[in-house]
Amino acid sequence: MNHPFIVTKEHRRFAEFANAVRKENTIGICHGDAGVGKTNSARRYSNWDDLEPYITTWGRRGDEDARHYAMAHRSRTVFYTPEVISRPKDVMQEIERWKTRISICAREHLLEVNPERAPDAMADLVELLIIDEAERLTPTALELLRDSHDRTHLAIILIGMPGIDQRFRHYPQLYSRLGFSHLYRALGRDELLFVLDRHWKRLGRTLDPDDFTDAQAIAAIERITRGNFRLLERLFPQIARVLKINQLDAITDDVVEAAASILVIGT
Ligand SMILES: Nc1ncnc2c1ncn2[C@@H]1O[C@H](COP(=O)(O)OP(=O)(O)OP(=O)(O)O)[C@@H](O)[C@H]1O
Ligand SMILES: [Mg+2]
Repeated sequence: MNHPFIVTKEHRRFAEFANAVRKENTIGICHGDAGVGKTNSARRYSNWDDLEPYITTWGRRGDEDARHYAMAHRSRTVFYTPEVISRPKDVMQEIERWKTRISICAREHLLEVNPERAPDAMADLVELLIIDEAERLTPTALELLRDSHDRTHLAIILIGMPGIDQRFRHYPQLYSRLGFSHLYRALGRDELLFVLDRHWKRLGRTLDPDDFTDAQAIAAIERITRGNFRLLERLFPQIARVLKINQLDAITDDVVEAAASILVIGT
């Protein structure tokens, strides 16, 4: 999506959770409803939107290097999404490859800063591994990860849908190593208003929660989306359409209802 990232309270809570998992060298689970913003937060935390394309096309290329080295040094995090169907061996190999590349980048930064005190070439500088869509991991992959964690004490975050924490109960060895469980919540009312304000502006209007019409529209949106980011993002293009087709000016609750009826909404 090309919308700018909004630093929400949930994103800050996610960052705190990630820092805690990392500090304790433990395994943490982050779970929450579809579309609340888990993936976005994790990619943001790991600078993955910038780092992924950079380390995917591997090799030096000049001006952009230093910036990415510094970024890798700051984040020391690998973000990984397993394929829907993936062999455990491939999962581990891919993770190793990303870890190596992030380590090399981070080390390049340290070499730049102080060549004498930089770690040696083989040093593993990655401190945190975030695995999105963790329900795709097979029992064998989970076991390999658990084993790798035992040997290296690499901090790991597993992101998934609600219930993933319960699923891990079936793996006592993994479960007994879990340090934190974090629930990623939908937007609260204040933040929903903040996000709506932006959407209103994008449609060339100003939101006034004290205005009766706006208050009703807000109530309708709140009821329909329950503060779910993805539903909001999908609703607004439809609101724009309804306004345009009917040549309306104001975003009323009727407009919101009409927009919602076009969408297949359900969580
Ligand atoms: N902090 C944010 N700022 C702006 N937009 C956001 C933010 N978080 C999420 N979004 C929007 O909401 C959509 C859904 O977010 P995301 O994919 O991160 O949800 P998710 O919790 O990972 O869902 P799923 O469980 O289905 O994987 C994104 O495509 C994006 O448009
Ligand atoms: Mg996701």
